[in-house]
Amino acid sequence: LPSFADERTSFHFQPERNWMNDPNGPMFYKGYYHFFYQYNPDAAVWGNITWGHSVSTDLIHWHHLELALVPDQWYDVEGVWSGSATILPDGKPVILYTGSSNESLQSQNKAVPEDLSDPLLRKWVKVSQNPMLVPPPGIGHTDFRDPTTAWLESDGLWRIAIGAKEGTTGLALVYKTSDFLNWTLQRSFLHQIAGTGMWECVDFYPVSLTGTNGLDTSKVQGNQLVKHVLKASLDSNKHDYYTIGTYSTDLKTFVADDPTRDVGLGLRYDYGKFYASKTFYDPAQERRILWGWANESDSQLDDIKKGWASVQTIPRTLVLDHHTGSNLLQWPISELDSLRGDKVVKQDILLDGGAMLKVDGASGAQLDIEVTFKYPDVQTLDVPLEQKECVCSQGGAAQRGVFGPFGLLVLAADDLVEQTAVYFYLTLRPNGKWMTTVCSDQSRSSLAKGIDRTVYGTSINIAPTENFLSLRLIVDHSIVETFVQQGIACITSRVYPTLAVERDAHVLLFNNGSESIAMHTLEIWQMSNA
Ligand code: FRU
Repeated sequence: LPSFADERTSFHFQPERNWMNDPNGPMFYKGYYHFFYQYNPDAAVWGNITWGHSVSTDLIHWHHLELALVPDQWYDVEGVWSGSATILPDGKPVILYTGSSNESLQSQNKAVPEDLSDPLLRKWVKVSQNPMLVPPPGIGHTDFRDPTTAWLESDGLWRIAIGAKEGTTGLALVYKTSDFLNWTLQRSFLHQIAGTGMWECVDFYPVSLTGTNGLDTSKVQGNQLVKHVLKASLDSNKHDYYTIGTYSTDLKTFVADDPTRDVGLGLRYDYGKFYASKTFYDPAQERRILWGWANESDSQLDDIKKGWASVQTIPRTLVLDHHTGSNLLQWPISELDSLRGDKVVKQDILLDGGAMLKVDGASGAQLDIEVTFKYPDVQTLDVPLEQKECVCSQGGAAQRGVFGPFGLLVLAADDLVEQTAVYFYLTLRPNGKWMTTVCSDQSRSSLAKGIDRTVYGTSINIAPTENFLSLRLIVDHSIVETFVQQGIACITSRVYPTLAVERDAHVLLFNNGSESIAMHTLEIWQMSNA
């Protein structure tokens, strides 16, 4: 029988009990990082949604405070839903959030701190002008939610985006205001994509084309040194899609650089369990930080039995990939390194075809792992062209190829009856080019019943000049976060080992391909509790 105690994470953000979903209103105020989240104070399932509230000085160690917002008005009695914080030029924070009324009418509302001198901002007051915005003509009563952080333009007006849909077209509406009370709907949408359905938790922010520092959300002006990122969480498939493009301050619309990879069609922040994410600008360290919700992959009954559901992924620093210009790089915030303890290092191990090698001294369920492999010399080999394009979902890590699958097993039981595999797999496409796929395989992760066993994955673009393939894995009991190639792709898995727990959870290097793979460096840190 699974021991639910082993599933609680040790350094990921979780409330003490009950249900959590989206990250809300992250911000930095008077020396504290504030984090709010969709929270059911009464049960381990979604419902009766409030804003939970926690504070931290390092984004890793958290102090839980009283609820910030609860459903106590006619316009939010069915739930205080997602929203964002904006810090005004005078330093005052404003929260905008969606309320759902008892007739399921979605409206946008405002709350402000009761006492600005309290750095913990424990008490929030809903303004008497609420609800400020109801769905405009053409937008359904249940299709109007999740206001963004506001940005200030050179005309002196603030703007926010709100997710919506028209028919099956997902879209972002823009409203402008001078006082955060009276709003005017902009005639053109910020952006829309046919067939993508409801856009939840839209996020819209600038990234620097020249530096690695993050940018304040109001850094929008027609400056060629800035690109914009637009993200929508697609209700239809529960994935977060982003695209990079240009925000025209004249037209007030966004245009993707590559229309074939527009919102919902191309890039995802994460190819595993990661949804309803939100970024914020951290002025203390001039960086943009991404928060994302990792839901459970077990059953609702299991969640009720264990008394909690969901974690937030480790906050990630976001920058534009200056090599490609066409994707973001995500990396765990550097504060996470403060939890690193004992370390095991291995170097230059040749993994023959079929190799399976246990890493001694590296067992545990709280690990930070970095590994690099030499990119195999694919040119010298004459391989048959029978390989398929989609390789993740077919057999997972147990497939046998030429170059891979090769990578790591974590949370692996002694006899490997439980194991979570994260691996590369190189396949030859019909066009004669090698494709690199990276996968996180949950199919053998647990002996427990009723859990999701999907093999997650994506193909990645490896420049011919890159000689290495690298992975970073953050392992924390029931979550494995994977960062590929310095953050060009991420995959988050929720896993529920029953035997591979604590000291019985092992790490192995493996190579299921027929060709040898050279492991260059492997570093494994034991991680402390936060
Ligand atoms: C996304 C979402 C939001 C909504 C909130 C309600 O997960 O559905 O669109 O505001 O959750 O909890």
